[in-house]
Amino acid sequence: MTGAERREQITAQIVERTGITEAMIERLVHGFYAKVRRDPMLAPVFDARIRDWGPHLEQMCAFWSSVALMTGRYHGTPMVKHMKLPIDAAHFDRWLQLFEATAAELCPSVAAEHFIDRARRIAASLEMGVASGQGVMLGVGERYRRNEAGAVQ
Ligand code: HEM
Repeated sequence: MTGAERREQITAQIVERTGITEAMIERLVHGFYAKVRRDPMLAPVFDARIRDWGPHLEQMCAFWSSVALMTGRYHGTPMVKHMKLPIDAAHFDRWLQLFEATAAELCPSVAAEHFIDRARRIAASLEMGVASGQGVMLGVGERYRRNEAGAVQ
């Protein structure tokens, strides 16, 4: 069996177990970023960097297809992009809150759990990356918090 065939088989198994489809990913991504763009804490971070939401949403659909269905559609470096952002634990908590609410609204529970489990793990690793970019090594379970001026506490 080739690598591509193996991957297709894994994707098929996830689809069978969770019911996740590309159409569901598209609804989740669009629904989630509609919330993000109305959110007082997160919207300014995105507004400062994203001019054209079309390509970003497409990129995020490819990302979630790779993460949730193992399709390999996404080729990017999220860690590098997030390390430069002015974000900390509070942003990650809010991001996850909105993501989890959207997944619960739009997806059957097995699918929602599959997305949420992966989102939590990736958020934790991005938070560690953001902290290390500021010279802070987080211990297990530790969170990264900046003070009002944006400096590390
Ligand atoms: C604190 C919460 C977060 C904020 C404020 C945030 C913000 C952003 C912004 C502004 C960009 C665009 C960066 C650029 O193009 O220069 C971006 C890209 C991205 N974000 Fe986040 N993000 C957050 C959390 C997450 C989490 C938890 C995930 C994954 C579960 C994620 C996945 C991605 C991906 C895949 C990209 C695309 C990177 C690329 O262009 O290839 N983000 N994010």
